[in-house]
Amino acid sequence: MASASDDISSGTRLLLSTQAEVMAGIDALFDQLLPVPKDPRAPLYEAMRHAAIAGGKRLRPLLVRAAGDLFHVDRGLSLRVGAAVEAMHVYSLIHDDLPCMDDDDLRRGKPTVHKAFDEATAVLAGDSLHALAFEWLCDPATSSDPFVRGELCCELARAAGPAGMAGGQMMDLAAETANFDLQTVTRLQQLKTGALIAFSVEAGAVLARIPPEGRSALRAYARDIGLAFQIADDIMDVEGDETLAGKALHKDEAAGKGTFVTLMGIERAREQATALVEQAIGHLASYGDEATLLRAIARYVVERDR
Ligand code: IPE
Ligand code: IPE
Ligand code: MG
Ligand code: MG
Ligand code: MG
Repeated sequence: MASASDDISSGTRLLLSTQAEVMAGIDALFDQLLPVPKDPRAPLYEAMRHAAIAGGKRLRPLLVRAAGDLFHVDRGLSLRVGAAVEAMHVYSLIHDDLPCMDDDDLRRGKPTVHKAFDEATAVLAGDSLHALAFEWLCDPATSSDPFVRGELCCELARAAGPAGMAGGQMMDLAAETANFDLQTVTRLQQLKTGALIAFSVEAGAVLARIPPEGRSALRAYARDIGLAFQIADDIMDVEGDETLAGKALHKDEAAGKGTFVTLMGIERAREQATALVEQAIGHLASYGDEATLLRAIARYVVERDR
């Protein structure tokens, strides 16, 4: 019988090999989906490619793949949905880095889009990736079933809009001046980061035509890892390595922003993140080896250094 430590290391091995495969797959797909036209729109495409290709952990496409694998979804289809959610995420990063928001110069170890190009191009590259995410989901190449395509589009819209990421970003701006309590910061993070992570997990089940009542365990898993992910981001902002992270850190405190770390202190935040990961793994109890990758991702979310 395999011991628990064997299980963890085989999970980690599976995570590393799948992440490498997803990273290469997403890069190849973006390369194919974003050809640079020989006309005055070329800088817009160059800017999208600068932000989207070769960078990031690709956590969201990895989650689509892992959840899709539970139900034997074709991996080419999971990858397309992964590219759509990653495009939405990259758009959110481009706009998050703008001078009117976090005013950052470095992202994924490279100059931010408004630094490498200019602000107007960065706004338009974000707008374009946002629109392309839906265009790719609506394409019959994503699913032959129009109901699946419709549900993916509706769910991504909800996750990205005012009841999701954009709403969370608004609350995040307010967190610089308001004194939010833990409940409000939790809601902020669930919207800002949790919603797109939850979409990524659920999309695997949507592709497999699993009805909503069959998705409760996955939804509970996603909620817990989403929160654990953001606590880890807040901890990294305090004690992470900027070179590894590829972005400026130590910004939350400077901005006077209420985060999990400022509210609970770093040790309790770390304990809370670990407890959420265990709880997330607990939600997968009804699955067997087919959920090894999802369990490994849950641990990675808090153990990562970038
Ligand atoms: C960073 O997201 C922004 C947040 C939502 C906290 P990631 O940590 O997933 O960034 P990449 O995609 O790996 O660059
Ligand atoms: C950005 O959050 C979240 C989104 C883009 C939705 P942060 O501002 O904390 O992310 P980093 O730290 O710049 O990556
Ligand atoms: Mg921000
Ligand atoms: Mg930021
Ligand atoms: Mg942050």
